[in-house]
Amino acid sequence: MDAHGDRGGAAAAAAAVGAGAGAAGADGDAAIELSDAAVALGGRRIWSEVSLHVERGEFVALLGANGSGKSTLLKVLLGALSLQSGSASVLGRAPGRASNEIGYLPQRRAFEQGVRLRGIDIVRLGLDGDRWGVPLPLGLTRPGRRERAGARARVAQAIAMVGAGEYAGRAIGECSGGEQQRLLIAQALVRRPQLFLLDEPLDSLDLPNQAAVAALVHQICREAGVTVLLVAHDVNPLLPYLDRVIYLAAGRAVQGSVEQVITSESLSSLYGVPVEVLSASDGRLVVVGQPEAPAHHHDRHDHGGAHHRAHADAR
Ligand SMILES: Nc1ncnc2c1ncn2[C@@H]1O[C@H](COP(=O)(O)OP(=O)(O)O)[C@@H](O)[C@H]1O
Ligand SMILES: [Mg+2]
Repeated sequence: MDAHGDRGGAAAAAAAVGAGAGAAGADGDAAIELSDAAVALGGRRIWSEVSLHVERGEFVALLGANGSGKSTLLKVLLGALSLQSGSASVLGRAPGRASNEIGYLPQRRAFEQGVRLRGIDIVRLGLDGDRWGVPLPLGLTRPGRRERAGARARVAQAIAMVGAGEYAGRAIGECSGGEQQRLLIAQALVRRPQLFLLDEPLDSLDLPNQAAVAALVHQICREAGVTVLLVAHDVNPLLPYLDRVIYLAAGRAVQGSVEQVITSESLSSLYGVPVEVLSASDGRLVVVGQPEAPAHHHDRHDHGGAHHRAHADAR
């Protein structure tokens, strides 16, 4: 608890910065807004009645068990998946219309040892690559000298921001997991996005690297004014940095501060079964007794929140 006792002040300052950045931009809209949203995949309702609001400049974690629909939410925000009902807006526009301003890091895939692309090439792909149907920026299809120099400068700046200068020239397959993740964050950063959608960037990193990457993303959020929605399994490495959290479970979502959301009362209510949140002396939070998300291989859990929230998984 005490480990993050000073979060209030920093969060308030950041919110003020975020609001200022928003007002200075095209409009003062929220970074992310979902209203009574529902989504289905393969005919199955994944979540519904989801209303969320992320301010510009905020650092927000998207939490929930495997299969609760976190990656699905990111795909909705990217415009890759349509809502079944309700509405969504991203950076003041319809999902998919703001893709050039979004830095997206898909859920982790490791690079094979043999991949010969260098780190710097991976970062550069973020600028050139048409990774999810985004038109090429800056007329890079036939770049002139000035464009090439601009692109090089952007790539170099992104690499410097994540501190990857030492290993960006090495083959990505030979970089460590933490180094690869920093280079992928640089790739997401290279278009100077206003919004980061990061899908489990701490996954498969050891604890020191989880802490370091969390700190790095927070630094980018504050210094570059990038709004961050970061998907995570475990909230603990993020505790010092979070403005708010979104928790997905049992086909519903709740949003609020860590203190509001990650409590026995709030999570029990969300899951529809008793869930206990324990707080260790070092401030780490442990959630005990949460049921699995409705999984693909078990269509329905008889002990879970399914009955309590029968309307949540009408299929
Ligand atoms: N293309 C698809 N068709 C049907 N079901 C899917 C599809 N993609 C994902 N799902 C299911 O949707 C649920 C949510 O998936 P996902 O958003 O990936 O969860 P999370 O990221 O929280 O682990 C899971 O039960 C998953 O099996
Ligand atoms: Mg996922």
